[in-house]
Amino acid sequence: MAKKSSKSKALPLYVLNGPTLNLLGQREPEVYGRTTLAEIGKMVAARAKSHGFPTVFRQSNHEGALIDWILEARTKAAGLIFNGGAYTHTSIAIYDALRTLAIPVIEVHLSNPHAREEFRHRSYVSMVASGVIVGLREHGYLLAVDALARLVKGAPA
Ligand code: DQA
Repeated sequence: MAKKSSKSKALPLYVLNGPTLNLLGQREPEVYGRTTLAEIGKMVAARAKSHGFPTVFRQSNHEGALIDWILEARTKAAGLIFNGGAYTHTSIAIYDALRTLAIPVIEVHLSNPHAREEFRHRSYVSMVASGVIVGLREHGYLLAVDALARLVKGAPA
């Protein structure tokens, strides 16, 4: 029987995605690109693995589900990458849930909301995020993994 490793397993990086991000690849590709969310999930998992972290990668169109997962991350995650989709700009409930976290949070957007309609310029997520990465499409998720891994390990991003 294989000897059990004495090394404790790293907690995962949670990557939570909000409404309509399940349609990435088909939805406004000129804004969000042609990469699907499943492809982003695979890229993120590989990048996180290179830093020694597993990932939990999820998407929901429902505010309550996102809140439940954020609260779950309090004890189950080493850090959180969050693309709240349109809830970023509207949800005080998600803001309150994020405020309960002691782990680092990186906010990601595929597009650059600041270069778009004015209602996208406000982000409740930015108020609690350690860092914000916008406008770099799927590459932003990989940069977020790199930054989060550093933060979790106690280094400045
Ligand atoms: C988005 C930007 C939001 O303004 C928008 O509502 C989305 C996607 C992004 O990743 O660019 O759904 O979060």
